[in-house]
Amino acid sequence: MTADEQKKAAALAALEYVKPGNKVGLGTGSTANHFITALAEKAKAGLDVECVATSKATFELAKSLGLKITTLEKQPRLDITVDGTDEFDGKFQLIKGGGGALLLEKIVASSSRYMVVIADQSKQVETLGRFPLPVEVVPFGINATAWKIERALRILELKGKLVLRLKDGKPFVTDSGNAIIDVTIGAIPNPDQLSTYLSVIPGVVDHGLFVNLCGIILMGTDDGVKTFRKA
Ligand code: A5P
Repeated sequence: MTADEQKKAAALAALEYVKPGNKVGLGTGSTANHFITALAEKAKAGLDVECVATSKATFELAKSLGLKITTLEKQPRLDITVDGTDEFDGKFQLIKGGGGALLLEKIVASSSRYMVVIADQSKQVETLGRFPLPVEVVPFGINATAWKIERALRILELKGKLVLRLKDGKPFVTDSGNAIIDVTIGAIPNPDQLSTYLSVIPGVVDHGLFVNLCGIILMGTDDGVKTFRKA
């Protein structure tokens, strides 16, 4: 199975977690897109759901497929969010934000009773950190925010390389108008602690560590979809 086939298999498996009448958070990225497409088919066949998108791209896709869209303003509590990930470990901790949608993804996931993560096998890791950690920052004073991130890493005895994310040679701009600094760390032994340190830095809007948010992970493999469920 290719990685994309594994993503699709996981996305289809996630459909069974969506019940009639559910308010559903829609993630962002290629795996989430498979889920959105499959959910739209089910909705056409009669499944009544209302969805909140985690990015402009997801909003456009969901709308084009005819899904009923709502907002967190109208529906502040959601039943379920289904989203992809860049990495997950055995403690259901994630790194997300490779596509730049981490802020809205975290707001939506944390507003949901369940977060179901769908992934191909390559996303499973022993320890988070192989994937560069996206940190969303306010453009104002970005270099001052950067040295505070470096200082936090030093205090935690982590080595990290900070790179401003670019798109077409210019700083990448998130859907909320911010920049992203990708921090290559290699291994993050204590994601919860790093999350706390990063969250209190003025100028850091959010970061891609998702801790205590996800309860179910569906991973596509050559032998079918494997389900990990938090006790
Ligand atoms: C978007 O910002 C990310 O959090 C994605 O969910 C993550 O990058 C996974 O993307 P793919 O599903 O495309 O691998």
